[in-house]
Amino acid sequence: MSSVAQGPIRAVISRRAWQRNLALLRRTAPTSRMLAVIKANAYGHGAVEAARTLSADAYGVARLGEGLELRAAGITAPIVLMEGVFSPDELSLALEYRFELVVHSRHQIDWLESRVTTAAVEPIVVWLKLNTGMNRLGFNKVEAPVVAMRLKTLKIVKEIRLMTHLATADESAHPLTARQLACFTAVSAEIPSLRSVGNSAGIIRGAKTQGDWVRTGIALYGCSPTSERTASELGLEPVMSLESEVIALRDLEVGESVGYGATWTAARHTRLAVIAAGYADGVPRSCPSGTPVLVAGHRVSLVGRVSMDMITVDVTDVPNVAIGDRVVLWGLGLAVDEIAKYAGTIGYELLCRVTARVPRVYVD
Ligand SMILES: Cc1ncc(COP(=O)(O)O)c(C=O)c1O
Repeated sequence: MSSVAQGPIRAVISRRAWQRNLALLRRTAPTSRMLAVIKANAYGHGAVEAARTLSADAYGVARLGEGLELRAAGITAPIVLMEGVFSPDELSLALEYRFELVVHSRHQIDWLESRVTTAAVEPIVVWLKLNTGMNRLGFNKVEAPVVAMRLKTLKIVKEIRLMTHLATADESAHPLTARQLACFTAVSAEIPSLRSVGNSAGIIRGAKTQGDWVRTGIALYGCSPTSERTASELGLEPVMSLESEVIALRDLEVGESVGYGATWTAARHTRLAVIAAGYADGVPRSCPSGTPVLVAGHRVSLVGRVSMDMITVDVTDVPNVAIGDRVVLWGLGLAVDEIAKYAGTIGYELLCRVTARVPRVYVD
């Protein structure tokens, strides 16, 4: 049924699937505490609802504003700013709202140091980021023990946790993971603290790539963190189903084309269904003809270009398709990972790019 004013498109979010995925991840990393990565509006699912639904041990966001939104909604659980703060002003707010901070660069420690001398604030947990081979953020193995000593002298720091981020945990045979782990193990011997290694891919690889704290994002949302196994093989359930409806039906003769650029031409008498879902909703324009779509539970093919608000699909082989029939772009019965392959990207990007005009409908 269409929601008034927003049309038929909606992202249906299953709380039960969310909780089950978290429970499965906890069983997979039974000795680790769980940081649920809910940055980017919980990968498009709604960060406030994520924090209300999941009972993780902490929540991770990438921007101060994302953390503030959670606090404004009454979330009191630990929240980690996963890139730390970007300015001294941000640090003031971060301290006021009791965020835990990743520290990856010296300038962030300078800001922490100067804060001690200017104000009395509650000490915080600092996640010291070690660069073991991802080469984005973090101190190298020589710097990290020195930095840890410096952090230990700061009254504002209640506890240091050592973390690193794996670049290739999604590929079982990639040699970089072993090198990253060796580096992390060597440095952590010099810095007694709780350790955090695994993202979703690290969690499913087993104890070596987990740590005292794991940081799970994509698996929580029911996607596979590795192309080597599907989400359903891993026992993960899709949390988001992007749904819409058939809004028009049309018959094409052989040789007639559809959509912008006339990129697809009927090779047989074709029944087309027009669906209210386009790239302004988050359906990638890069999805080619042949991308699967579920119409009334039947798997059919997208034909022609994705336009801003509509797509067209070939329903010739589906009996009795009618206006208002339910359509699934991805989710239950059609893995977002599969659609992402057609679009030349990964499930993460599709989920994050569901736009603001798509209502999120929470069920279960
Ligand atoms: C530092 C860090 N840890 C954990 C995660 C979660 O990764 P995933 O969604 O692959 O589980 C991310 C995601 O970008 C991250 O940047």
